[in-house]
Amino acid sequence: MPDYPRIATLRTAEAFAARLQQLEIDLGFDAEIITGPDAPLAQSYTLEHGFTLSNRLCVLPMEGWDGTTDGHPTELTQRRWKRFGLSGAKLIWGGEAVAVQPDGRANPNQLMINAATVGDLAHLREILIAAHREQFGTTDDLLIGLQLTHSGRFARPTGALEPRILYHHPLLDSKFGVDPELPVMSDDEIARLVERFVAAAKLAKQAGYAFVDVKHCHGYLGHEFLSARTRPGRYGGSFENRTRFLREVVDGIRSTVPGLDIGVRVSAFDIVPFQPGEGAVGEPTPFQGTSYDYAFGGDSSGLGLDLSEPCDLMDLLADLGIELVCITGGSPYYNPHIQRPALFPPSDGYQPPEDPLVGVARQIAVTAQLKAHRPDLLMVGSAYSYLQEWLPNVAQHVVRTGKADFVGLGRMALPYPDMAADMLQGTPLDRRRICRTFSDCTTAPRKGLVSGCYPLDEFYRQRPEKETLDEIKPDLRR
Ligand SMILES: Cc1cc2nc3c(=O)[nH]c(=O)nc-3n(C[C@H](O)[C@H](O)[C@H](O)COP(=O)(O)O)c2cc1C
Ligand code: SF4
Repeated sequence: MPDYPRIATLRTAEAFAARLQQLEIDLGFDAEIITGPDAPLAQSYTLEHGFTLSNRLCVLPMEGWDGTTDGHPTELTQRRWKRFGLSGAKLIWGGEAVAVQPDGRANPNQLMINAATVGDLAHLREILIAAHREQFGTTDDLLIGLQLTHSGRFARPTGALEPRILYHHPLLDSKFGVDPELPVMSDDEIARLVERFVAAAKLAKQAGYAFVDVKHCHGYLGHEFLSARTRPGRYGGSFENRTRFLREVVDGIRSTVPGLDIGVRVSAFDIVPFQPGEGAVGEPTPFQGTSYDYAFGGDSSGLGLDLSEPCDLMDLLADLGIELVCITGGSPYYNPHIQRPALFPPSDGYQPPEDPLVGVARQIAVTAQLKAHRPDLLMVGSAYSYLQEWLPNVAQHVVRTGKADFVGLGRMALPYPDMAADMLQGTPLDRRRICRTFSDCTTAPRKGLVSGCYPLDEFYRQRPEKETLDEIKPDLRR
């Protein structure tokens, strides 16, 4: 395993700064945390229509692979959402991915939204709100959305991969065994899917959610539209065609569900898929040809970034009246080191090809560039968990200097959801609960188990799945 210094060993601001300098990355941080009314993270943010959120922390969507096979939440789902409510963050971005139709589920235990589940999805939100109210006194400043998805290329509605693709991808098709003859989704199927998204948004409003996230990230269908340059017809080729699905869903929601806000979580940059190379260290998958045309926000080399189209997308969102944007990158399935920087790879990953701090800095820099391009959009940043002890210092710096409006907490929200409250109150961090990016929360579902923080959350440590995970992990390492 590459020998990157562990964050916990970078104990002083000088040591952390020296490591950043060594890596030649521009990752600003504040050595001192400001608390009280002047704390940057405790500043309010008012949306255009007047709703005010009273701090700058956000819980990112985190699914648990723990719904019922017909798409209802279980007690495990409820526990996670309750903890999101107890976090102290005032923005709950989507809760977790919820499929709009059965063939779009990423796993047989993903939540679904339909007439049968809408009551339970309303209850999930109520559980979160009740916990938040009890802990923090009010929910008048709490904004909760629901993430709507179709998993496209990564759909596994019954367990096995049953991909629904928009175009044949030369590297992803072979990496995931997609039949070269598999028909792509037709324009008519897409038009019907637009209707499903709109119907799902209507149900989300009925269930009390303030906004829906029309998910465009992580290699799932919404994201695949953005890179469908080789697809002929209405939904491929030009930027206008590749964003048609988004525009049609937004138009449909606007005309049928007035009063519901819309957000978009987008993978704003991407690179080629990575694979384990020598010593299982990740390396780029080679591709034939001189120009790689399959990465939205990536350049033609397949490894560099080009944010010109993501900037155009931000302009489009603003034109569509969408204020809520959550920036992420890449995909957990084919380049996890850029999507969720970690020291320890999940079972289907590879050893990190760069110090994970580089991955954190990349997401922060991309978000900052997009924010500078469209200061009028509310932008949430992702991928802060690897910062561990230094998360509050970087988060404060990012918000104080306007590089993002909200700092999102993903994996950290599993073992230590109330890190948000501790940061806001200036309470010393509980080091025993800091996510160390062991990736068990990703490895477990890859092996058919429910997700959770098995190493650090006592509740999951006691569950029988922990034993199974401990048994299979040495094999995985070999
Ligand atoms: C177990 C797990 C579940 C996740 N579920 C979702 C999800 O449902 N929707 C989504 O957009 N991202 C999901 N993500 C990605 C996170 O929201 C986040 O982008 C990523 O973990 C990086 O942020 P972090 O460094 O704070 O963890 C998930 C990540 C993990 C590890
Ligand atoms: S299992 Fe726990 S410590 Fe490991 S990455 Fe997930 S949240 Fe972090």
